[in-house]
Amino acid sequence: MLNEYSWLDKSLDTIHRANWYRSVKEISGLPGAVVELEGRSVINFASNDYLGLAAHPRLIDAAVAATKKFGTGSTGSRLLSGHRKLHRQLERAIASLKQTEDALVFSSGYLANLGIIAAVVGKKDLILGDQYNHSSLKNGARLSQATAIDYLHCDMADLAQKLQEYRANYRRCLITTDSVFSMDGDLVPLPELLSLATKYEAMVLVDEAHATGVMGATGAGCVEYFNCSNRELIQIGTLSKALGSLGGYVAGKANLIDFLRNRSATWIYTTGLSPADTAAALAAIAIIQDEPERREQLWQNVAYLKQQLSSEDLLPSESPIICLKLNSPETALSKSQQLQEAGIFAPAIRPPTVPISRIRLSVMATHQRQHLETLVKKLRIDH
Ligand SMILES: Cc1ncc(COP(=O)(O)O)c(C=O)c1O
Repeated sequence: MLNEYSWLDKSLDTIHRANWYRSVKEISGLPGAVVELEGRSVINFASNDYLGLAAHPRLIDAAVAATKKFGTGSTGSRLLSGHRKLHRQLERAIASLKQTEDALVFSSGYLANLGIIAAVVGKKDLILGDQYNHSSLKNGARLSQATAIDYLHCDMADLAQKLQEYRANYRRCLITTDSVFSMDGDLVPLPELLSLATKYEAMVLVDEAHATGVMGATGAGCVEYFNCSNRELIQIGTLSKALGSLGGYVAGKANLIDFLRNRSATWIYTTGLSPADTAAALAAIAIIQDEPERREQLWQNVAYLKQQLSSEDLLPSESPIICLKLNSPETALSKSQQLQEAGIFAPAIRPPTVPISRIRLSVMATHQRQHLETLVKKLRIDH
């Protein structure tokens, strides 16, 4: 019988026919370079746990101790219900890693992007965003009600042309970009972008989700990698990837952070980060600062894999995200399935997330040489 919800089955049918249907695979045991996937041990190239911290005893112990001391939940919005010393310790640690005046933690990176963009620009303003920006940046732009225009991926000539054409018609302008592009692995040309921003009086929001803990001499991210730590900008990121926890953050000048505490709806009207997540992220930052050898190992693994794989099969990447180009969603799905049968967990990424279907491999510091060799061997056989 047809009713007002019948469109759901029709829509699902269309998604299936296009090979765009997504389902979740169950893993068991601790996260790591090897995981139990659907009852079988596989080498894991599907996680963003770049430094292998999500199962690190220091993070687990910190989370357990914080839970025992402060309970499981934060019980309310920080403004209404108060916060723990831990929350400010984490914010100070992020600010110190990023060399900014202050930082603010959100319940996720997605919420940080939504709430910060919607707070700093509005109807009278302009957002210019990279066409390959993460969904949270794009939806933040929608929520803000600013005029949002995409520029071509990492194309500074196109950004310059759009600034020239539109900037003067708006009050404030915000340029938004991933720093490491999450589904491609390439980097924003940050110094050129910042020069354009200065010339056209635009603010810059850079999403360091995949760069924090990974890029730069101390793991602070791409802003550090490009020697731009002294520039005034809005740095966003997540605690859920190299930091092995859950949550998001913004780092920047003290007045920006103070303004956001007063104006960012996704921070004001939501429950504070749990004690366990906060303590785990704090422990992760300490490890990032104490153990640079983890980052060095990660980059050695990245270099080895890139050297072993044929560059014409790969999308351009300067990060631990390495993508194998494939010509259709079906090929991507069947390649991912073949890899899984060979004991390798690597997801197919398809439209509408990306324009070109691909297998996305994310390298970890804790991958052993033998894990990488197994992957290379399997990909060479298939070639
Ligand atoms: C570039 C980018 N920004 C933001 C996010 C959202 O972060 P979170 O998972 O903490 O919500 C992600 C991924 O999840 C991402 O890849």
